[in-house]
Amino acid sequence: MKLITVTDLETLVATHGFKKLTQDLVTYLKNDFSDWKSFDKSPRHACHVPDGVIELMPICNHQYYAFKYVNGHPKNPLSGKQTIVATGQLSQVVDGHPLLISEMTVLTAFRTAATTILATDFLARPDSHVLAMIGTGAQSEFQTLAQTLIRDIQEVRFFDTDPLAMDKYQKNLSHRAFKLTRCESAEQACLGADIITVCTACKGHVNVICNDWIQPGVHINGLGGDCPGKTELEKSLLYRSKIVVEFLPQSMIEGEIQRLTPTEVASHVHAELWELITHQKPGRENPDEITLFDSVGFALEDFSALRLTHDLAKIHKIGHDIDMIPPLSDPKDLISAIKNF
Ligand SMILES: NC(=O)c1ccc[n+]([C@@H]2O[C@H](COP(=O)([O-])OP(=O)(O)OC[C@H]3O[C@@H](n4cnc5c(N)ncnc54)[C@H](O)[C@@H]3O)[C@@H](O)[C@H]2O)c1
Repeated sequence: MKLITVTDLETLVATHGFKKLTQDLVTYLKNDFSDWKSFDKSPRHACHVPDGVIELMPICNHQYYAFKYVNGHPKNPLSGKQTIVATGQLSQVVDGHPLLISEMTVLTAFRTAATTILATDFLARPDSHVLAMIGTGAQSEFQTLAQTLIRDIQEVRFFDTDPLAMDKYQKNLSHRAFKLTRCESAEQACLGADIITVCTACKGHVNVICNDWIQPGVHINGLGGDCPGKTELEKSLLYRSKIVVEFLPQSMIEGEIQRLTPTEVASHVHAELWELITHQKPGRENPDEITLFDSVGFALEDFSALRLTHDLAKIHKIGHDIDMIPPLSDPKDLISAIKNF
């Protein structure tokens, strides 16, 4: 059984390449989303705790079972801690034995960015050149770089309520080919944007993005509205948007669409992402549509990320072999794993 630590993942990214890893993850996601019906799926299990949430995200197909443990504590940065940390496990279905335990804090940022690439490709106008990034926290650089892989982004307009988070973002992305425009407000950042990625960690129904800022033709990746009582878009914007979600039963609990009635969900949600990937439903159909990827993060995305990590760890010989399963010569003689009893 393999263990992939943060240092191992850093080595893996350095060896395989940031861009190649993201692109390979898109391929793995496409394959897994295309196989949608073969997965045993359920909304994630969430424990709502004071100031946050702790979640388990399980999923399984004929070959692998995977789960991620992840938290979301928006106030953590105030005491110098990350909002989100995660770990994950991949097991083989044939005998139920674990294959891999991995860090998933960085992997989550990769898989969320790779999923956004898929959605953006189906939903954003091909001539999108201006990206607005609202919320410049942990996910933001991954999200920004991902968008440059799928569209010819020439300008990134960004805003965060925390000037230090804006400084960090500006420093990390200053040497890139696109123009970086620091904005005074979310409204200013959205001005003239073709794609808006909003990824804040507010708890509550907050109008981070207002309806009347949004022009026809804009695509929005809404990532931070991912928990009951936690949304980022003015509700009236949902009625103007062609909405795509990951897994409807989970999105109805956690996504922007939690604010819609079941009847409104039926008439306003256009598709689940897998239906675009398998071409059962169209993505953008004209240049004037407002499209919204209402993302909450689904277990299948972590499944793909763990599967890729497992494959790459083998190819590049990265990670540690750890003894998490007692090596018994007689499978019924478990007591022999303990020398002194
Ligand atoms: N959909 C998904 O798959 C997915 C995956 C990962 C994270 N998320 C969500 O994305 C959000 C961001 O995650 P993170 O790891 O980057 O968190 P983070 O805490 O590192 O960053 C969030 C940033 O949002 C900023 N912010 C808060 N309110 C704002 C506002 N009104 N306007 C502008 N900026 C504001 C904060 O100052 C902070 O810099 C979280 O809510 C998280 O739950 C979703």
